[in-house]
Amino acid sequence: MAEHVALITGASSGIGFAMARELGQRGHDVLVVAERGVDEAVRRLREHTDARVTGLQVDLALPDGVEEAAARAGELGVRTFVLNAGVGVHGPFRYTPLQDELRLVDLNVRSVVHLAHLVVPDLVGAGTGRIVVVSSIAATMPAPLFGTYAASKAFLRSFAWSLRGELAGTGVSVTTVLPSGTRTPFFRAAKMERTHIGRAPKASPARVARLAVDALLDGRAEVATGLQAKALVAVSRLLPQPARTAFHGWFYAPGAPPPGASFRR
Ligand SMILES: NC(=O)c1ccc[n+]([C@@H]2O[C@H](COP(=O)([O-])OP(=O)(O)OC[C@H]3O[C@@H](n4cnc5c(N)ncnc54)[C@H](OP(=O)(O)O)[C@@H]3O)[C@@H](O)[C@H]2O)c1
Repeated sequence: MAEHVALITGASSGIGFAMARELGQRGHDVLVVAERGVDEAVRRLREHTDARVTGLQVDLALPDGVEEAAARAGELGVRTFVLNAGVGVHGPFRYTPLQDELRLVDLNVRSVVHLAHLVVPDLVGAGTGRIVVVSSIAATMPAPLFGTYAASKAFLRSFAWSLRGELAGTGVSVTTVLPSGTRTPFFRAAKMERTHIGRAPKASPARVARLAVDALLDGRAEVATGLQAKALVAVSRLLPQPARTAFHGWFYAPGAPPPGASFRR
């Protein structure tokens, strides 16, 4: 049974919740980790799956939270780690609050490196394990007005591929997930509803989760979840860096700002 316990960070909503449900429906027990909304997510997952579901409420932007998550994973014998929790900070870099930018780095980047560093030795020792890193198509292009986020996702993509290379032959696979715009609370939380990407049609988290879990169970290196994501990865490869930056920047520009609206806050 222990082989089938999955820890999912950021499983209280969106892609993480959908991945927890998908894994639960495919025979995994589930440990839900998030800063808020854990009890409600656990209740809903118990309704939708036959999995044994437990929750852990911690702030993963803090080292203590990561250490608590790793300790709980050790107690439960977790062998599948979905490193998904992430936030966005949107707006001109000169106006965004520094503490928000640094918290993004702490959560999106630092917590992933920290948690992976704590759990990889045990997975290698056991000769089995799966790690999924939820990056983004934003990893493939610089993003004016969303630069720290795009850079954090580029970090994750490179890190996950490197780790995969190192762990080849150990029984531990590392899979990178590149979703494009997905219907989750992410855009509202980052105050991006008025941007082009905020207004654009989006993929359902359930579909993203299905494709991501397929890739995870196959031990694939990377999956761009859906046609739009695949198309954006292809476009990013074709364009030179300045064009790529301008193209991607359009997504994060205001779609139709009200007169006098300002990004300043
Ligand atoms: N939506 C998209 O279009 C899209 C596209 C590409 C990639 N992604 C990536 O997908 C991942 C999931 O995002 P989502 O779209 O599903 O958004 P979401 O619904 O807002 O999910 C974010 C999750 O992260 C958790 N979280 C936030 N801060 C945390 C903290 N300090 N400690 C622990 N957990 C924390 C949130 O839980 P609480 O706030 O309840 O604690 C929530 O469960 C992110 O890494 C995002 O970058 C999203």
